[in-house]
Amino acid sequence: MYFSLFLDKNAPFFFMAKSFTIMVHLGGLCELGEIRLEGITKKFDDFVAVDNVNMIIEDGKLFSFLGPSGCGKTTILRMIAGFETPTEGRIYIDGLDITDLSPYKRPVNTIFQNYSLFPHMRIFDNVAFGLKIKNLPKNEIIDRVERILNIVQMFDQKHKYPNQISGGQKQRIAIARALVNEPKVLLLDEPVSALDLKLRQKMIIELMNIHDLFSITFIYVTHDQGEAMSLSDKIAIMNHGKIVQIGLPDDIYERPNSIFSAHFIGDTNLISGTVKAIHEDYIEVETGFSQNNEKILLDSTYTQDVSIGEKITLSLRPEKIAVSRRSPGSQSDFNILKGQIEDILYLGTHTQYIIKVGDQLFKVFSQHKKVYFDDTALDWEENVFLYWHDTDSFVIKEENFEKQELGIGSQELRDKRIEANGKRQKGVK
Ligand SMILES: Nc1ncnc2c1ncn2[C@@H]1O[C@H](COP(=O)(O)OP(=O)(O)OP(=O)(O)O)[C@@H](O)[C@H]1O
Ligand SMILES: [Mg+2]
Repeated sequence: MYFSLFLDKNAPFFFMAKSFTIMVHLGGLCELGEIRLEGITKKFDDFVAVDNVNMIIEDGKLFSFLGPSGCGKTTILRMIAGFETPTEGRIYIDGLDITDLSPYKRPVNTIFQNYSLFPHMRIFDNVAFGLKIKNLPKNEIIDRVERILNIVQMFDQKHKYPNQISGGQKQRIAIARALVNEPKVLLLDEPVSALDLKLRQKMIIELMNIHDLFSITFIYVTHDQGEAMSLSDKIAIMNHGKIVQIGLPDDIYERPNSIFSAHFIGDTNLISGTVKAIHEDYIEVETGFSQNNEKILLDSTYTQDVSIGEKITLSLRPEKIAVSRRSPGSQSDFNILKGQIEDILYLGTHTQYIIKVGDQLFKVFSQHKKVYFDDTALDWEENVFLYWHDTDSFVIKEENFEKQELGIGSQELRDKRIEANGKRQKGVK
């Protein structure tokens, strides 16, 4: 839990006691904060940065906008905060139209990427700033600021200046400064991107715990899929100003609705095919990537709405494919193909194989587990079987896609890598 990060001893007890105190004293924080975006479009001159977005962000959720640079994430956040006005559409918080409200009148606070702390003010005064502007009584300000500094475990550092604390501590102060105003919604624009990897991971856990503690709505913006997957209750994938998919992190990963989603979160193999037969339990797809015209079978539970003769795209994640020099034997719900290893890349936690089946290249991730039944490591140019369960490949209803560059490189480069890595690969399994 949140406090166990800072206080290892008696952490659960401390956490419960603190939570109770917070609920008693900061009852105002535990309010609703449902955001509704209705037909939101933002144009900068002729350029459409956000394109007719319609969505609801449920109250109390940790919701992320995820998408590539320039897709419109910050612009959406700035419209919710009131720093930009939508060209079209309305924004509601808990059913109240706030589109024309000025930023400081909205029950919303923003944490920016660089935290924007005032360098000439001590930590205490940085956090107290918003309350002083509101002219609250001095005692109330001291009380609220000290309480929030305790929560983020920065009370002891309240006399320091921002340049005397670490990046992670600055983030905690930025969160404290936002939460002390008791917003219904906290907006976070890539708040951990300036931190190193270890600190980023730690701060993400802290953010999740702070979110659990306060139960207000957090809207988080990032282009880092790992970050979004690990901390979000729900994710919206954006591209070119549009929402491509909204869902739970595992739904988006397991069942992406488009080629863009499938590629943006994780890695995938895309395969073109034609629906050949539709049976009760499974669907046969003819791929045409080898002379054998291999068919791929799909479990029909996850594949509806296709018709015989339809051209489709299949998505198959690299880690769902097993690779072995021996056949797993006939298994009714497995797809089994024969291929040849084109490339091997040792990546520590797993090895990436590029395997050629006819003219189709498959990317396969394989973990180094001694329990697999190949007792020596697979080698370059070996003939292998690749197989996967028929629920692991699924249809994306888009026909055309750009063939992925799998980075095998020139023959000369490849030969050098075989020479350099070939021997080491033999010791991997
Ligand atoms: N004030 C502005 N004037 C003109 N164009 C703008 C303005 N603000 C943003 N844009 C453009 O709108 C698009 C979306 O910008 P936005 O900042 O929302 O992207 P983003 O998804 O947050 O990207 P990043 O991940 O790089 O932060 C970009 O092409 C950007 O150049
Ligand atoms: Mg941005």
